[in-house]
Amino acid sequence: MKIILDCDPGHDDAIALMLLGSSDAFDVPGVTTVAGNQTVEKTTANALNVLSYLGLPYKVYKGADRPLIRSSLICPEIHGETGLDGFVFPPHGRREEETDARAFIVDAIRRSGEKVTVVTTGPMTNLASALLFAPDIKDNIERIVLMGGSVGAGNVTPAAEFNVFCDPEAADICFKSGLPVYMIGLDVTRRVLVLPEIVERMEKIGGKAAVMFAALMRTFNENQKKVFGLDGGPLHDPVTVAYLLDERLLRFEHVHTEIDIQGGISYGRTNCDLPGYLKKEKNSFVATDINERLFFDIIGRAIASYR
Ligand code: BDR
Ligand code: CA
Repeated sequence: MKIILDCDPGHDDAIALMLLGSSDAFDVPGVTTVAGNQTVEKTTANALNVLSYLGLPYKVYKGADRPLIRSSLICPEIHGETGLDGFVFPPHGRREEETDARAFIVDAIRRSGEKVTVVTTGPMTNLASALLFAPDIKDNIERIVLMGGSVGAGNVTPAAEFNVFCDPEAADICFKSGLPVYMIGLDVTRRVLVLPEIVERMEKIGGKAAVMFAALMRTFNENQKKVFGLDGGPLHDPVTVAYLLDERLLRFEHVHTEIDIQGGISYGRTNCDLPGYLKKEKNSFVATDINERLFFDIIGRAIASYR
């Protein structure tokens, strides 16, 4: 399966990268970065740190430093000043490529001999920008699998989830693209909490991924406690890659989804018409159920693969 992962590491993005590198089933032409949890300079440095530490050879392409239209938003209260506080990565000589993320996405998809799955775990700015710039790439995209949105409550406002709230117009472009969109939102990711016993279980597996996981998740959890009062934070982003590793993980409903881009109190809300009130075209598959146990088994197997 050919995959481009577009991310803003970020503690949970880092674990998504770790999952991606754990399986031979994935062919990864590159990883792209975007401003989200932190500035794009920091998320790019973080992606390079994680990949280098885990010995993963993927090239990194730096992307958008701000959303398409709205003003920038970052999330240091959860991810810290570096965007990945809690683990000191060893020095390495790797740098991002010269090509920017949009150019890379367009070129890699055009050139690919097989359809590409685009996974986004941050604001959807890079992908939306690529789709606007080169609509022909749609013919060679298998599907979009995104962490973002919520059928229920948001996590930044009562209505909106962080990734979609950061760049609602970009999400709107992706959902209206006509491509198969798989939305993995808070409804399922809030059910996979990295409780302290999960951190201990993963740490005991041993190896470099276990060390990184435990250190990052302890800091993530301290911040989740301060901000949301949770003992274990939701491990949002890795659900995307875990699903691609084992499709039994999630159940989806095929529904019409529309992003609120009107700028009012519900700006960035993903209005998922599960009841089918609007009788509009079904443009998205929305995750409504997750097998929590299977999820943490997948995480455990991935960690073990780095021993
Ligand atoms: C999303 O927001 C970010 O802080 C996380 O990395 C995740 O992608 C969850 O709302
Ligand atoms: Ca993210």
